[in-house]
Order: sequence, then structure tokens, then C-alpha cells
Amino acid sequence: MDRPIYMDHAATTPVDPEVFQAMEPWLKDSYGNPSTLYTAGLVAAGALERARASIAERIGAQPDEIHFTSGGTESDNWAVKGAADAQQKKGRHLVTSTIEHHAVLEPLEFLEKRGFEVTRVPVDSTGMVDPEDVRRAMRSDTVLVSIMHANNEVGTIQPITEIGAIVREAGAIFHTDAVQSAGKLPLDVAAMNADLLSLSGHKFYGPKGVGALYIRNRVRITPLMHGGGQERRRRPGTHNMPGIVGMATALELATDRMAEEGPRLRGLRDKLWEGLEENIPDIAFNGHPTERLDNMLNFRVEGIEGEAMILCLDMNLIGVSSGSACTTGSLDPSHVLLAMGIPAEEAHGSIRISLGHSNTEVDVDYFLEAFPQVVSRLRDMSPVYNKPTSKQ
Ligand SMILES: Cc1ncc(COP(=O)(O)O)c(C=O)c1O
Repeated sequence: MDRPIYMDHAATTPVDPEVFQAMEPWLKDSYGNPSTLYTAGLVAAGALERARASIAERIGAQPDEIHFTSGGTESDNWAVKGAADAQQKKGRHLVTSTIEHHAVLEPLEFLEKRGFEVTRVPVDSTGMVDPEDVRRAMRSDTVLVSIMHANNEVGTIQPITEIGAIVREAGAIFHTDAVQSAGKLPLDVAAMNADLLSLSGHKFYGPKGVGALYIRNRVRITPLMHGGGQERRRRPGTHNMPGIVGMATALELATDRMAEEGPRLRGLRDKLWEGLEENIPDIAFNGHPTERLDNMLNFRVEGIEGEAMILCLDMNLIGVSSGSACTTGSLDPSHVLLAMGIPAEEAHGSIRISLGHSNTEVDVDYFLEAFPQVVSRLRDMSPVYNKPTSKQ
């Protein structure tokens, strides 16, 4: 293969050429600050409000419910800490799941150290939360529930509508991290019963370093930062105009392409898994067979480490991840796979493939040619694997 094959779109995506085009003027001649009162500022303010309205429309919100942030991590932190802080007179109990992104889990741990109580509902072996577990976790002092829409490691899609209805009925605030599902699944904050919803531009072919938090009107939330009066005095800082315009354009394109791109990626992904299952003994699928993002495939390979597979695949110009990209550098097994009941040594041998626009049948065929050789080579060296390394 004479070009890199990128199969890690859950980690990040390239900026779409049309998105880049939409951003370019805001990096060059149209550099006005939308908070200023003369022409350049007014032009920028117009574009800012168009971007806000466009994002709102794509998720079924009102424009003034969209708040721009620096990305998914900030949106999640703000949702969790901001809502908990604003509601603490009412109660100090928070509910989440065991498979959330660290951008939700760590702010919750931070709050726990400051006297909040956190209940973490479990998931089953497919990575699915049972809404009844959420119902059982609710208490009279529960003020916030944070359950993600689709998981970033295995792609399992949660029954968000049902969970949201339970939270609403109990009178608490419902936050959902839709960073992985935006642009891949239809989002409708009303249908989801979401009060807070996190987005991140770089997961759907927009730029990095920009995101949004949907905050339902009348939901009280304390700002994380203090400074200027931007974003209805809730999120200060000069607006990242190229990023914001880019993210709005990216979400428009991703939403328009969803109906076509989803089934295309699902076809490639299923072909990939069928080929792997056929050719490699002792591999097992991680995740939900059907309730899963179309582009996502996570599996474990007995007897070898995920990191070793990644390095060998990289030598073949193939880019994939083991566990969550955000915890690269940590050798702890994935908390998501452990929560699904997968033993630590098997979780270590897992890799995540996430397909995207650039991937074609050619890439899948190339992967299916390269990967069995990688597995055989590593298993031949493995001190723990001593079975035949191929099915042929
Ligand atoms: C589910 C989920 N939430 C939050 C984030 C953090 O988003 P960002 O990279 O924009 O900070 C990620 C990124 O991997 C994610 O997958």
C-alpha cells in the first residue's frame, strides 16, 4: 500500500474540504471580533448567529440554547460541574454509568471529593445501560444524570429516550454526551429528553478545539470560567470564529450525508468483521451486535497485546486504536471493556477500528490481508498463546 489507511475516526477526523473552505475567510480577511460594534464585528456576529442557528436546527434546539466551547471535554466538564453546582441546594446526588468518557467520569470524581455522592449504574456484556437501573438509582436528592449517547470505544448506543424520560419524571437534569453520535445518528434534544448535550467539532469532519453545549432554556448552570459577557454571560472568551463556522458547516454536511454514509460504513465494517472471523482463530467481538454506531468495530485477539498490534499495523501504514485514544499512554486496560465483564488480560488484547469517509473496499481488503500476518507473527512470539495461529 502506498498511502496511509486511517481507520481511527472515533479519535478524530480530517477537516472536510468544504469545511475548510467555509473556515478560510475567518482565518484571513474576516478576522473581526463578534463582540465589537463596527462593521467587521457585526459581520462576524452575523456569521456566529447563523452557525448557532444551524447547529440548533440540526439537534432540534432553539439557537439561544447552543453555547460554544473549546470541545467535548469542556462541554462535559461544564455540564457536570456546572449543573451540580447550580442545583446543590436541592441535592448532592449524581448518577452516571461505568462506561462514560473520562471527560464525564473525572469531573464526577472531582465532585465526589467535595461531598457529592455519585451512583454509577452498570452495563451488560454488550455495553448497554438498563434504563431500569437508572430508575432504581434515582433518589429524592438526585439532581443530575449523565449517560452518554454512543460509547467511544465499542460504539454501543444507549436507550437515551427511555433514560431521559425516567430522569425527567424524577425531576432531575439529564446530560448526554453526544460527541460520538453527532453526525452519525439523528439528534433531537426533545425526543431524547435531554437538558444538556455535548458536541465536539473534530469528530464529524470539523476542526479540533471547538465544541458546543446545548443547555435547555431555564436549566440553571454555573459557568466554569469567568471573564467577558460572551455566550449569554455563561461562557466567556473571544469566539473561535473559524472553529465555530467550521463546526456548523461540518454538522450540516454530516447530517445531510448520514442516510447514505451510515449504511456504506456498516457494509464495510461488517465485511471486515466477517473476514477477520473467517481467517483468525480465537478472536471475539466486543460490543452490541446491532445497537452500535455504523462505523465502529472493537474486538479482542487472544494471546497478544493491543499496543503490539497497533505498532505492527502502523508499520503496514494502518492507523487504529486500542481502547480510548484519550487515554493513550496509559497501559491500564480500558474501563469500558472491564465494565462489560471482559477480563483484564483479554481487554488488553483489544483494538478499535472506526471507519470514515476515506475508507473504501480497497482499505478493508488491505486490512484483511495485513492483519492475519500481524496476528500470526505476534502469536508466534507470545509466551501465552500456543495454538494454531491460522484457520487455514
Ligand atoms: C464520548 C467522548 N466524549 C468526549 C470527548 C472529548 O472531546 P474533545 O476531544 O473534543 O475534548 C471524546 C473524545 O474522544 C469522546 O469520544
